[in-house]
Amino acid sequence: MGWYARHVLPRLTDCACGSRALSAVRARTVARASGSVLEIGFGSGTNLRWFAGSQVTRLLALEPSRELIALARARIARQGLPAGLPAPEFIAATAEAIPLPDASLDSIVVAFTLCSVRDPERAGAEMHRVLRPGGSVYYAEHGLAATPWARRWQRLLEPAWTPLAGGCHLTRDPTQLFQQLGFVTDAHTGAIGPPTIAWRTIDRLFPGYWGSATRP
Ligand SMILES: C[S@@+](CC[C@H](N)C(=O)[O-])C[C@H]1O[C@@H](n2cnc3c(N)ncnc32)[C@H](O)[C@@H]1O
Repeated sequence: MGWYARHVLPRLTDCACGSRALSAVRARTVARASGSVLEIGFGSGTNLRWFAGSQVTRLLALEPSRELIALARARIARQGLPAGLPAPEFIAATAEAIPLPDASLDSIVVAFTLCSVRDPERAGAEMHRVLRPGGSVYYAEHGLAATPWARRWQRLLEPAWTPLAGGCHLTRDPTQLFQQLGFVTDAHTGAIGPPTIAWRTIDRLFPGYWGSATRP
C-alpha cells in the first residue's frame, strides 16, 4: 500500500464522508438496523451517531483499512457512543471474505462502500450468506446516473477518479446487484444532497441509491 493510501486517503475519506449533506440519507438507513448487526466498510465510524435509538444488540465493524480503524477508535474515545449502543467489535477484513458463520446476522449496514469494493458480486454473495433468512441489508450508496449525458461524464471521469478516491466507481448499480443475487429490495434512487445549486450538480454524477435488500 502506498503513501497516498496510508496517509492521505484515510483522512480524505473521514473528511468527505463526514459531510453534513449526507446526514439525511444516513439517518433513514442506519437506524433501521436491529439485533446482531454488521457494518461493512465501517470507515472512521461516520455512521455511529445514526445508530442512536436503534435496537442493536451487537455491532460488528468490518473495515480493511487499519488507518480508518484507528480513526474510528479515536472518534469513539473523543465522542463516546450513542446511549445503549454496544461497543463495535472491529474486524479487519474485506466484504469479499466476511469471517463470520452462515446465517449469523439480523442486519447489515453498508454506506458509500459498494462503490469501492473490488468484487461487488462476491461481496453481495457474502452478505447473502451471513444474513439469516428474513434479515436485511440497509444500504445508502451512490451509483450509475439516470441520464445518458451524466453517464457519459461518469465514464469519462471514472478512470481518473477511481485511483484517487480509494477504488470508488461511479457507474455501479447497487440495487440491481442485490436483485441479481436474489435479495428482495425496497429501493429508492435520487438526489442525496440538500437542494442547493452545488449539490444538484454533484447529485447528477453521484445519484443516491438507498433502501433495503432482504434475504428471502
Ligand atoms: C467512502 S468510504 C465510506 C466509509 C463509511 N461507510 C461511511 O459511510 O462514511 C469507503 C469505505 O469502504 C472501505 N472498503 C474499501 N474496500 C473494501 C472492501 N473490499 N471491503 C470492505 N470495505 C471496503 C474503505 O476502507 C472505506 O472505509
